[in-house]
Amino acid sequence: MKRLLILLALLVGANVHAQKFDGLANTPQMGWNSWNSFACDINEQLIRDTADAMVKLGLKDAGYQYVNIDDCWHGQRDKDGFIHPDPQRFPSGMQALADYVHSKGLKLGIYSDAGATTCGGKPGSRGHEYQDAKTYADWGIDYVKYDWCDTKGLSAPGAYTTMRDAIRAAGRPMLLSMCEWGDNKAWEWGKDIGHSWRTTADIYPCWNCELNHDAFSRLGVLRILDRQAGLRKYAGPGHWNDMDMLEVGMGMTGDEDRAHFSIWAMMASPLILGNDLRKMPESTRSILANRDVIAISQDQAGIQAWKFFDDGRLEYWARPLANNEWALMVLNRGEQAVNLSYDWKANFVSDELSKREVDFKKAVYGWRDIWGGKYGDTSKKLEASVAPHSVLLLRLKTK
Ligand code: GLA
Repeated sequence: MKRLLILLALLVGANVHAQKFDGLANTPQMGWNSWNSFACDINEQLIRDTADAMVKLGLKDAGYQYVNIDDCWHGQRDKDGFIHPDPQRFPSGMQALADYVHSKGLKLGIYSDAGATTCGGKPGSRGHEYQDAKTYADWGIDYVKYDWCDTKGLSAPGAYTTMRDAIRAAGRPMLLSMCEWGDNKAWEWGKDIGHSWRTTADIYPCWNCELNHDAFSRLGVLRILDRQAGLRKYAGPGHWNDMDMLEVGMGMTGDEDRAHFSIWAMMASPLILGNDLRKMPESTRSILANRDVIAISQDQAGIQAWKFFDDGRLEYWARPLANNEWALMVLNRGEQAVNLSYDWKANFVSDELSKREVDFKKAVYGWRDIWGGKYGDTSKKLEASVAPHSVLLLRLKTK
């Protein structure tokens, strides 16, 4: 009996030891990542300048926190197996860079891969997981994006658990962003391992296209949205469905950019900027710094939106917010403007997952049109024209 108790205590102890760091993503993480704009063409000056821009442009104040270095920062492993940054691109070293980013009140993220090589062909963490996590912790890293190239034969839950445990053993709270593209349905097993998991292949800056490469495709905004069906029940505070990094400011129209940003906020996806912050027009900045959209993304209740109604021309998405408020998004996927006349009272909105519901026959809500700046309430029909490739985004509060 005594032995059994000791064994049990050890097992419980081991289990506690292996937990992911909590409290790092109570709301979806916000930041920037180098990949969408720069791919492998990165260096320490770019990271410093991006941190500066994040502060100067008011993005830090708006809630963006992480400056994330994606693939290709790597140099070689030394004879003891420790990884070093590329000495030409990161001559001052990662610790100095982390110190700089921290001095701006921001956090630094890094990228690795569960396989022997990363997607960009750099050294991956396979067989070096504990060593790498310890190295990142010593440098002062705050965020690890962990990719899935070159992993043939590996178990995804096993490989991501190993990195989680390695981070725990390294002793520094580092957010673990899992990037297996949904190939192994990370949402089904990732909750206690990482803080977010990619749900799809990589994003591409277009509304509804699919770009085929040799072995994989990249997906436009709507293609990614459509692949979220059935996933909302897996997301919540500390563990989010990641729809990939943002393409706002990367070539889509203003309406498309606003819709893309609104959708990511409604879906409680991480908001990781992908554009070049050093040369961003005010039109893009004002989208990304929109406090009302960010407030939806960062809502404390942490409930992902769902599509509650589709009239064939427009989709209606609802997100229950804290304090009995709601966000409502009307999405026009199509090529024509659609005039909408929506009778609130005719649609009882009920969410099986969160058990939240609204009956507009019984309660009148005031609404605010976040992008359009208009106000109204649910006692009257909602009349609006929704432009092609755009959204109407409302925040509702009881009167
Ligand atoms: C994969 C990931 C991307 C990016 C690249 C880097 O494609 O999904 O987000 O990190 O690798 O090589």
